[in-house]
Amino acid sequence: MSEARIRWISGPVLRATTDGRFALREAVEVGPQRLLGEVVSLDGEEVIIQVYEDTTGLKPGVVIVGTGQPLAIRVGPGLLGNMFDGLLRPLAGSSSAFVTPGVAPARTGMLPFRPKVAKGDRLARGAIFGEVEGAGGRVQRCLVPPDREGEVVTVAPAGSYAEDAAVLALRDDAGATHEVAMSHLWAVRVPRPVRLRRPGAKPLVTSQRILDCLFPVAQGGKAAIPGGFGTGKTVLLEALAKGCDADVIVYLGCGERGNEMAGVLEEFPELTDPRSGRPLMERTVIIANTSNMPVAAREASIYSAVTVAEYFRDQGQHVALMADSTSRWAEALREVSGRFGELPGEGGYPAYLSSRLADFYERAAVVETLAGATGSVTVMGAISPPSGDFSEPVTSHTKRYVKAFWALDVRRAQARFYPAVNPLLSYAEDAHVFAEWWAANGNPEWVALRRKFLTLLDDQARLERMARIIGKDALPLRQQLTLFCAELVNEAFLRQSALSPIDRAASPARQSAMMRLIGRYTELAESAVNAGARLEDLAALPSYRQVLRMGEEIGEEDLEKFGALAAAVEREIGALVQEKEKRNAATTAG
Ligand SMILES: Nc1ncnc2c1ncn2[C@@H]1O[C@H](COP(=O)(O)OP(=O)(O)OP(=O)(O)O)[C@@H](O)[C@H]1O
Ligand SMILES: [Mg+2]
Repeated sequence: MSEARIRWISGPVLRATTDGRFALREAVEVGPQRLLGEVVSLDGEEVIIQVYEDTTGLKPGVVIVGTGQPLAIRVGPGLLGNMFDGLLRPLAGSSSAFVTPGVAPARTGMLPFRPKVAKGDRLARGAIFGEVEGAGGRVQRCLVPPDREGEVVTVAPAGSYAEDAAVLALRDDAGATHEVAMSHLWAVRVPRPVRLRRPGAKPLVTSQRILDCLFPVAQGGKAAIPGGFGTGKTVLLEALAKGCDADVIVYLGCGERGNEMAGVLEEFPELTDPRSGRPLMERTVIIANTSNMPVAAREASIYSAVTVAEYFRDQGQHVALMADSTSRWAEALREVSGRFGELPGEGGYPAYLSSRLADFYERAAVVETLAGATGSVTVMGAISPPSGDFSEPVTSHTKRYVKAFWALDVRRAQARFYPAVNPLLSYAEDAHVFAEWWAANGNPEWVALRRKFLTLLDDQARLERMARIIGKDALPLRQQLTLFCAELVNEAFLRQSALSPIDRAASPARQSAMMRLIGRYTELAESAVNAGARLEDLAALPSYRQVLRMGEEIGEEDLEKFGALAAAVEREIGALVQEKEKRNAATTAG
């Protein structure tokens, strides 16, 4: 076994003298407490190690022992419904967001195992060999580790077993027998293998209108949520966790303030799953690494989270991973690299910031699993650019790897316009792919309506600039109409409070009904203006108020009310047009 002695300590970074037998990225145990660490650099007799725990009290001379393995976490059926630190050690509870330092304790507790294979069966890598029924009847599958295969020699009968106890023995082609438990270890920095990766053709329904209708992300896609201080990143990620149509949620709280994370830890167990009416926690894994936890563990937490997400994907599930915030992760990277004296690049971040971001985001995908099922991991990462400047390194590098960019805007947030996604700075590269999906889901006009809304919002920005100079009333009527319609798109459609019981999540059917109604409203408004109506006349109609408030007033159970509202809009604007035409005819005649 490789051994080293500490020579130098700076926060989470150690330099140690060694016999030279360590491997890069090897996991190590430091001192009698067996603090977890990882080899980050090798130079002859010297190793540099980052320690994932508080190094207070460590002294030069203390012995470091190599494990011969890369840093790995244990994935298994015991994950769902629980909270962990960045190295996947259980957090005791919401009030104590700390774990005892040292090598991870095994997850205790017995799980009900049901075998799905028999002696003599041949199992391929990643094959399903058993099931565990979790809370609320949610079935989880037990997988042969992706690096094992062979013939079943023995399999345990149905019963209660510890997660890491052997329940299966496999004989490989070389004749060696391997024990397999319900859970297995996987190196966090290595993507789990799959049969095939394919492009996502379906959107991940987020239940947020501005995202689904204007800036959709693919199932298996990647999205970034950059936003300055207090613009609503955390609230939006939580809304996505509650409302998106993934089977499993992995929520990573990475380096956020302890009290903010405590909010998440306390709130999540209380949440109800809108799809099943059962606790949302039953299909959630929370990984938390607050700013008061050791900085190096934060660097690892992002890989732990994506490994957990891949593990559920490999069971044929659709997984959504929310990371809050990747900037805090990048800061950890910067701090550790600074301490071991690497040359800083842009913004003080190490030169490999970009490739590390790529390593993370590129693990999002729709895949055919080794067992032949379809699963996906969708990654959504918040970014907190200092002073909201999107040209800083983390935001600009992330942009290279994500397909959807949901830019939160300080001005919108200050106006309490939520979600504060700025439609002019946001984009979705995949959007055109989803036309077919929307057509099959009740909105064949989605492409045209999306284009119309985006054009209106674009024109609005231009006209508002002009109006600031010459005054709004000096704009020609047609341009005032554009502003009127754009305002309607904003207020009646894009605004969606995460706190409103009725409006916090919108189904595709409800989104489609609202989108069509507003699209039709803008056509009618144009015809009314053409007939000589003033915008004040339109705004005075009772249906105008109702359209503005429809998100808050018409819930998922009363979708037919959108039809009634649309009919009222047709009737009232129709009457207005008739009245104007009559008057026009009278003036022409007179
Ligand atoms: N979608 C929303 N609906 C309603 N209110 C919201 C929404 N988003 C944000 N808010 C309001 O804005 C406040 C700040 O939001 P949040 O904590 O999510 O910001 P943040 O970007 O995560 O901030 P920080 O930079 O401190 O992490 C919330 O407490 C809430 O009052
Ligand atoms: Mg936040």
